[in-house]
Amino acid sequence: MTALQKAEAIRLRKGNRPIAALTAYDYPTARLLDEGGVDVLLVGDSLGMVVLGFPDTTHVTLEHMLHHVAAVARAKPTALVVGDLPIHTYDTPEQALDTARRLVAAGAEAVKLEGGVRQAEKVRAITQAGIPVMGHLGMLPQRVLEEGGYRKKGKTPEQTEAIREGAQAIIDAGVFAIVMESIVPEAARFLTASLSVPTIGIGCGQHTCDGEVAVVTDLLGSYPWFVPPFARPEADVAGATRNAVARYLLQVRGS
Ligand code: KIV
Repeated sequence: MTALQKAEAIRLRKGNRPIAALTAYDYPTARLLDEGGVDVLLVGDSLGMVVLGFPDTTHVTLEHMLHHVAAVARAKPTALVVGDLPIHTYDTPEQALDTARRLVAAGAEAVKLEGGVRQAEKVRAITQAGIPVMGHLGMLPQRVLEEGGYRKKGKTPEQTEAIREGAQAIIDAGVFAIVMESIVPEAARFLTASLSVPTIGIGCGQHTCDGEVAVVTDLLGSYPWFVPPFARPEADVAGATRNAVARYLLQVRGS
């Protein structure tokens, strides 16, 4: 399947089978998640925190993204590989298209960018060049410094309407799906019912969107120093690692 066909298959999942997306940042994780049957592998700029040790995503550069997108693409996943456009790499439509093309050259099949109405022209520039775009609304991690923290969105009818308007603007510009981050469940449910493309939720409550995305380290329990309140860990890789190191020290040192 081509990248466009894969993105279209995700778009057509609205109202049918829920979409299961996970972040992936490296070759072995991408292979394992793909073998497990995940629909979308998002090389998210969350890698700034959970892989590179930065405090937030505003430190992530295009070079970081290209390196990790290429590693994930080497796994040749069946899942759609989506790469994030990092902050300040899509300040104009021309720059957005250039950045998207570089991510695609590294192995991304689609790209994701944050924001609504003010990003519509950038989305249009990329989709018109034949590159599928995923939107991202609600809490926008690239704006965490301006907003002074990670806050819930859609708490008032006005906020929800602003998100809906932003969503419609990027849908008109051609996005095939939209990540909804940290939107209160009632608003997420309303937006999902109102919009014509699939919504993929994180921190919006369970079963409020057309699918879910999770940061893989939250699922695996491999980044124990910060676990978002909405995370639902299914493993304790940090604990298993600590135990393995303790047993290794015992083997090597004998005590
Ligand atoms: O960067 C990322 O991992 C993301 C998810 C939180 C959706 O954008």
